[in-house]
Amino acid sequence: MDRAQLQIVELGRLSMRDWAQLVEGDHEPFGGTCAGFEFRPKDHHIGVRDRDGALIAAGGWSVVEVEVDGYGRFEVIGLGALIVRHDRRGSGLATPIMQRLRKVVAQSGVSRLLLLCETHLVELYARRGYRQIEDPVWVEQSAGAVRWPLEAMWRPGEPSVSWPAGVVRIQGRPF
Ligand SMILES: CC(C)(COP(=O)(O)OP(=O)(O)OC[C@H]1O[C@@H](n2cnc3c(N)ncnc32)[C@H](O)[C@@H]1OP(=O)(O)O)[C@@H](O)C(=O)NCCC(=O)NCCS
Repeated sequence: MDRAQLQIVELGRLSMRDWAQLVEGDHEPFGGTCAGFEFRPKDHHIGVRDRDGALIAAGGWSVVEVEVDGYGRFEVIGLGALIVRHDRRGSGLATPIMQRLRKVVAQSGVSRLLLLCETHLVELYARRGYRQIEDPVWVEQSAGAVRWPLEAMWRPGEPSVSWPAGVVRIQGRPF
């Protein structure tokens, strides 16, 4: 489809209809490990709609509080649920979502982005300026705090920002 017929939109929480369109035909779209976790709903989304208005790609984000041992608490933009509908993958749709996200971050006053991902996606995010967090990352689940078993990556919203060393404790559910 002609790229000009696609529309990038900023959305709040996704409707059930939007979400159903995105994951159509996908069993465990974020992988088996993620399927076992409780995630928080994302408050905002950046989406791509086709000419019929169907959502064919989206990425969600929320402002999330984290604590780093020995450093303290601060806010990050937690990016999650980046997904391109199964039949539209591999045609570059993830890229405009991540570009728009950077604009949103620049306007938000929050200086760090954080995401949690599977290992096979580390290269994808590294090519877009994200860096791996080597320290352990903990997330909250109903049963209590659990060490995140996959990868965590962050990106500075502005060049002067760094990520403090220390164990990371995400306040609340992962995203
Ligand atoms: C990850 C995902 C969003 C990428 O969407 P896409 O439309 O295929 O991405 P694009 O065509 O824009 O490709 C972006 C880049 O990712 C790479 N890529 C795409 N899918 C990949 C995958 N499954 N594993 C590793 N790299 C991948 C592409 O080679 C491309 O590389 P580039 O940096 O040279 O441009 C898509 O595969 C998807 O929806 N996966 C299932 C949900 C998921 O795992 N989301 C990530 C949550 S953290």
